[in-house]
Formats: sequence, structure tokens, C-alpha cells
Amino acid sequence: MHTPVLLNELIKMMDIKSSGIYADCTGGGGGHAAAVLERLSPEGRLLILDRDPQAVERLIARFNGDGRVTVFRSNFSDIDTVFDKAGIDKADGIYADFGVSSFQLEDGSRGFSFRNDGPIDMRMDTAKGVSAAEVVNTFTAENIAVIIAKFGEEKFARRIASEITRRRALKKFSTTGELAETVKAAVPRKFHKKGIHPATKTFQALRIFVNGELEAIGELMGKIGGLLKAGGRFGGISFHSLEDRIVKDCLSEYSKDCVCPPELPVCVCGKRAEFRIITRKPVTPSEIEVEANPLSRSAKLRIAEKL
Ligand SMILES: C[S@@+](CC[C@H](N)C(=O)[O-])C[C@H]1O[C@@H](n2cnc3c(N)ncnc32)[C@H](O)[C@@H]1O
Repeated sequence: MHTPVLLNELIKMMDIKSSGIYADCTGGGGGHAAAVLERLSPEGRLLILDRDPQAVERLIARFNGDGRVTVFRSNFSDIDTVFDKAGIDKADGIYADFGVSSFQLEDGSRGFSFRNDGPIDMRMDTAKGVSAAEVVNTFTAENIAVIIAKFGEEKFARRIASEITRRRALKKFSTTGELAETVKAAVPRKFHKKGIHPATKTFQALRIFVNGELEAIGELMGKIGGLLKAGGRFGGISFHSLEDRIVKDCLSEYSKDCVCPPELPVCVCGKRAEFRIITRKPVTPSEIEVEANPLSRSAKLRIAEKL
């Protein structure tokens, strides 16, 4: 079961209007969506997006018969197309809970996890793109190292990539267990941390690459301004610094007035702030939440209001 992270904080800070229009960009198991729906009257509307076909099936089954809800199988980078299809111009709130769900992680057959053995895949949208198996079995050591370093911030990226290519010359990788074992062997023992599998960063990196996760967040952030009413709010929950940096930098840029070089005596850029940041510092889970759900420990919530 997926436990929604920072649930009370998100709901409170989105300042839900009972007859408002909302978009949940990352439906997953529907935990955040259900809490939003509790606050919506029959006039309210909730669009729920997910790119994962299994999540979409689950969401349709969960909210079946609720006339306020429409579920879309879509990448949130195409949120503007979803609004068009739904006949909606602007919303009162758009929120996203980035990353992977426990449903995806726990289902070995999806190939996301080193804990639940299965065929290496990691695609959220199983109909699109290259799988992680293709990456580890066909990309050059150089390219694999770049992916692991860039999206996993893993300092042993080169060693891991060369161990992967050495082993695949003997036998192609087929399971997440084999891959996890290879990464573990490549990371020097003294750098193995207690309670954290040495393949954690490598698996994160492959997942982010295979799903184009950071590009999708960038595209979503580029669209929120045009899709929110004045006073409407955006909420983003990130799980690692690469995601959070995109949200933070975009919101900071959108909340600035003039961006002319300081030496200019008058403003020539004409830029005006589009958003007001509500969370100067990101909101993080309480100790109680982290104890109950250790997966929430790195979550950060940022909220901004459209001006
Ligand atoms: C952390 S889970 C969301 C959990 C959800 N908030 C809940 O309460 O159950 C993230 C979900 O977002 C989906 N997702 C990730 N990136 C996406 C994207 N670019 N477009 C659409 N859905 C995406 C994943 O398939 C996954 O189901």
C-alpha cells in the first residue's frame, strides 16, 4: 500500500476551495487525490494524471462513479493537452508528488527494485522508451557512467559502469538481483552504508534516465503559470535534490520582478513576478511521519501562489 507523504501539509497549504478545479499530476494510489476530494463539494473537479497504465487502472477503480473525477493516462509534461481534453482553461490548484510509488517498487515484475527480484525494466509507461535492461546491456561504459553519475550523484559511477560492461560480456543482465549484486561488488566495501543498499543510487539514476523524469518536471514547471487562476496554488513534493532543485529554481525565477543586470539604472526587461512563494523553506515530514513511513524521510514540499 502506498502511504501518501506530507498529506496534511499539502492539503492545508493548497488552500482547497470546495467548488474549485484541481489537477493531481501523479495519481499513483490516489491517496492525495482522496484527501482533496474530501474537501471538494459536488461542484468541484479533480483531474488525475498518471503515466503508468497500472496506476491508471487502479485510480479508475478507486474513483469509479465519482462525477467530480476524470482520470487521464498521461505524462504530466502534457498537462496542457489534458486541460484541453477536459475543457478546462485554468485550475485553482495543481500538485505533484514526484518519483516512484510503492506499488511500482514492490512489484518485482516492474523491475524497479533491488529488493524484489524481477526483469530489469523501470519504465513507468511500459509502452514507451528504452528499458533499463537495454541501458545496462547495450550502452557504452562511458554513457552508463554518465547516467549513474548525473542522475544518481554516485561517486563510484565509473567503477560500477565498468563492472557492468565486464560482466555483461560474459552474460547479459536479465534480473534486478543480478544488477544489484554487480553494483554491490563494484562499490568498495568500506563505502557500504549500514541499512542502505549500495545499488540505491544506481537504481535511482537508471529510473530517472529511463523515464526522463527531470525533463518532465521541467516541462510541467514551464506550464503551471498558464494553467492556474490568479490565487491558484502549485504544490510539489520532491524526493531528492535533483527534483527539488528544478522546482525551487523555477519557483524562485517566477517569483522575481525585474531580472536586469544590477548595473542598469532602469528596468528594461519588464519582467514581473508571476508567483508568490508560500514556503520560503521547503516543508519536510514530521518525526512522527518519518518513523511511521521511513520512505518519507527525504520528502520536501514547496508551494507557490499564482499572482
Ligand atoms: C510518488 S507516486 C504518487 C503517489 C500518490 N500521490 C498517492 O497518494 O498515492 C508517483 C506517481 O507518479 C507517476 N508519475 C511519475 N512521473 C510521472 C509523469 N512524468 N507523468 C505522469 N505520472 C508520473 C508514477 O507512475 C507514480 O504512480
